[in-house]
Amino acid sequence: MEIKAVVLAAGKGTRMKSQTPKVLHEIAGKPLLGYVLGAVAPLVNETFVITGHGADEVNAYVNEYKNVKTVLQSPQLGTGDAVAKVLPHLENYKGLVLVLCGDTPLITHETLESFIAYHKKSGADLTVMSAVFDDPTGYGRIIRSACPPLEGGPEFLQTSIQAKIPRGGQILRVMEEKDANPKEKAIKEVNAGIYLFDWQKIKPAFSKLTTGNAQGEYYLTDIVEWAQNKTAYTLENNDEILGINSRSDLAEAAKIMNRRTLESLMDNGVTIVDPESTWISADTKIGEDTIIYPATYIEGKNTIGKNCKIGPFAHLRGEVEIADNVKIGNFVEVKKSKIASDTNAGHLSYIGDSEVGSNVNIGAGTITANYNALTKEKHKTVIKDNVKIGSNSVLVAPVELEEGANVGAGSVITKNIPPWALALTRAPLKIVEDFSKEK
Ligand code: UD1
Ligand code: MG
Repeated sequence: MEIKAVVLAAGKGTRMKSQTPKVLHEIAGKPLLGYVLGAVAPLVNETFVITGHGADEVNAYVNEYKNVKTVLQSPQLGTGDAVAKVLPHLENYKGLVLVLCGDTPLITHETLESFIAYHKKSGADLTVMSAVFDDPTGYGRIIRSACPPLEGGPEFLQTSIQAKIPRGGQILRVMEEKDANPKEKAIKEVNAGIYLFDWQKIKPAFSKLTTGNAQGEYYLTDIVEWAQNKTAYTLENNDEILGINSRSDLAEAAKIMNRRTLESLMDNGVTIVDPESTWISADTKIGEDTIIYPATYIEGKNTIGKNCKIGPFAHLRGEVEIADNVKIGNFVEVKKSKIASDTNAGHLSYIGDSEVGSNVNIGAGTITANYNALTKEKHKTVIKDNVKIGSNSVLVAPVELEEGANVGAGSVITKNIPPWALALTRAPLKIVEDFSKEK
């Protein structure tokens, strides 16, 4: 059965205190929305992103994705109203609809996959994702026909997670905290805000939603009560639905995401000397036996080969492709560059918009001057195989250093260098004998 996704992203994100729409705040160089779209993409045929606040910026970002459309919700009348905005786009659609939020970047592809499998197996018209929290404050509570014990101790937690269905009967509805009575508020099973349903069966519910609740909004959660045949899937790892509402949430999510990425790299044969001080984006692939030294920061999309040594204090800024046996040492920054195998950039360099060959030595302090501040243009530096660049040299782009070229230390290179030639721009060294003795 076909699946289409609806990602809610119209909210303001007031607590971020920002000019940037909440879902465009970044973790490791990628917007929050990008993580959600990435987790969803392999599972669905098409995705609708509901936009509102900062819609133009969100549109511009979403344009980069295939099979993702934006639908404007203005004004924002609630989560139910947000999903209802796709009605005109799905009039004759006969498949499933997966709804989730654009500000929960930690949700994984694997969890969504098992959520979908669970729904299909259950035969229900609607499945809501739930989670069991020690402190459920702020979430909608899952109300079941026989409520789970109010003091949900460890035993309840255990069985509920193992069985994926908390004990205590059939799911009836979701009660928002602001509408809940004290007994309901004590329930620890909450609505994770992710739903999967048969579109044709649930669609009529959207015209029945009302604003008769504490917040005067159209609640999406009301479709749960409306659905005849429904079930809940209980999340195993609560981190996955951590919603970003503040800068502090953003930092926490970034940390969890980073730890996940590092664990998976270590499982795949990468040495991370100090996970506490190393940041690597989820979109970075690293080969076996590469060692990442402390205080390294790697953002954006990159690939690093096998047997490389990166850091300490290295900064890879994205679109970096590094082959095998490459050394990127202390205080080396690399951006949008390709570096072939067996090349070293050991100390204090900037390599940007460059193509670097194999077996190249980039001396300490070498800088590719890729940016012309007057024209605001960026230019490319090409360094072919076996080039040796002396320390403290500046390669003023656009420039090409042909195979085997040698640059003397302290040179400023403004012209292409032919193969195997030596290029030097230093003033000749003058030695004045006994100069300081006389003074
Ligand atoms: C919602 C659920 C709650 C659940 C919680 C999980 C409802 C009524 N409640 O509450 O049961 O436990 O999520 O995180 O759905 N949005 C729009 N348009 C709107 C309103 C919201 O696109 O008109 C978007 C927001 O940008 C956000 C998402 O929908 O991404 C959720 O909205 P939010 O206001 O955070 O709902 P909660 O109060 O957290
Ligand atoms: Mg929320």
